Amino acid sequence: MNLVELIRKKREGGSLSEEEFRFLMSGYVKGDVPDYQMSAFLMACYFQGMSREETLTFTRLMLHSGQVIDLSEIPGVKVDKHSTGGVGDKVSLILAPMVAACGVPVPMISGRSLGHTGGTLDKLESIPGFRTDLTISEYKHVIHDVGVVMIGQTKEIAPADKKMYALRDVTATVECIPLIAGSIMSKKLAEGIDALVLDVKTGRGAFMQTHDRSMELAKTLVDIGIGFGKETIGFITNMNQPLGVAIGNWLEVVEAVGCLRGAIGKNNTSTDLMEVAYVLSGTMVYLGKKAKSIEEGIEKCKKSIADGSAYHKLLDLIRAQGGSVDAIENLERYPLPKFAMEIKSSEQGFIGEIDSFELGMTNISLGAGREKMDDIIDMKAGIVLKKKVGDAVDIGDSLAVFYTDREDVLTAARKRIAKAFKISAVKPELKLMILDVIDKNGVRKFS
Ligand code: URA
Repeated sequence: MNLVELIRKKREGGSLSEEEFRFLMSGYVKGDVPDYQMSAFLMACYFQGMSREETLTFTRLMLHSGQVIDLSEIPGVKVDKHSTGGVGDKVSLILAPMVAACGVPVPMISGRSLGHTGGTLDKLESIPGFRTDLTISEYKHVIHDVGVVMIGQTKEIAPADKKMYALRDVTATVECIPLIAGSIMSKKLAEGIDALVLDVKTGRGAFMQTHDRSMELAKTLVDIGIGFGKETIGFITNMNQPLGVAIGNWLEVVEAVGCLRGAIGKNNTSTDLMEVAYVLSGTMVYLGKKAKSIEEGIEKCKKSIADGSAYHKLLDLIRAQGGSVDAIENLERYPLPKFAMEIKSSEQGFIGEIDSFELGMTNISLGAGREKMDDIIDMKAGIVLKKKVGDAVDIGDSLAVFYTDREDVLTAARKRIAKAFKISAVKPELKLMILDVIDKNGVRKFS
């Protein structure tokens, strides 16, 4: 087989056979296919896309480039959730313990923050001592003993994806739906799951900013899941303002712990976050056969918060993965950043918009996120919103507080955060959080 011919075939819109894909991908993992030829192939995929058959083949080869974890000895239907990521998206931290508390095992392999969106691994690692680098044998022990486990991609999981994703990142070929879908699903299918819930975010703070692109990605992801024999339900959810109130690793852990302790009813600020968390977790409980409907699953998850079982499951998970339960039980003892600055409103009215992309980018400048994969992040840094879209605001009211150790960014961050809040004279109509459901029956509006 000739590599140049394969690249040309894709460039001209042709479809590659399984054998051709295998030649290209196994050659790349072994080092026989150089980066420059793989880059050219990825760019051809970016412009020409892939057929359904090609997408499934590509995913299968990525999946089998490494180990597929066998969790068949763990009783129950194993269910995970994947989110395409957004600003303030700490849903996994709340959802995984809730679902496990309802008796559904949750094996979860998550990613790190990159660009304006956060990553579950960094949030977990802000908990002192918490290990996300478990071996596969430790991973199996934790899911067996606790019913939930949360780790990062190991070198055994989809190594072809790891190598190819790093190349895509520096060759402007990330934003290609079949490549994204194959990359996400190869890692999820390697976890040992039986079923999967997908949260594809749409809006200014999302990876996919338009509804059409989010829908195309969601349909492709669900189709791959079903194609691999896993029950898969996808949701398109709103990411036009940050989810909940906290942005930044430890700050998001604090918000998630508050939600798990049931503080939501008292401060009423994390309602959008909990709306998404309940729908996704309820769907997991339904797919895990512990509820007859999504609605019954939601009720069970609400009960797991009310009776404290979800919070205690989080503590069990943290203990099992080497983290400090004491830090969670005594959140106020965590080290404070050097600077805490409040942003006050200079106008009266209602919060019309909060630009989550801008806040996500400001969060990086505070030290809480990364522009490059090897950037070191400050776990304490971030932003806490004091107002959300639709809230009434007076001159002098607090809009947000930001935290950082970097003195040199204070002035610019203050300006950027203030600009991210748009005040309007009339109360804006609140957008739905859950827009569409995609499953084996097609697409429908969520009600
Ligand atoms: N996340 C992934 O895991 N892969 C992609 O290609 C994009 C986002």
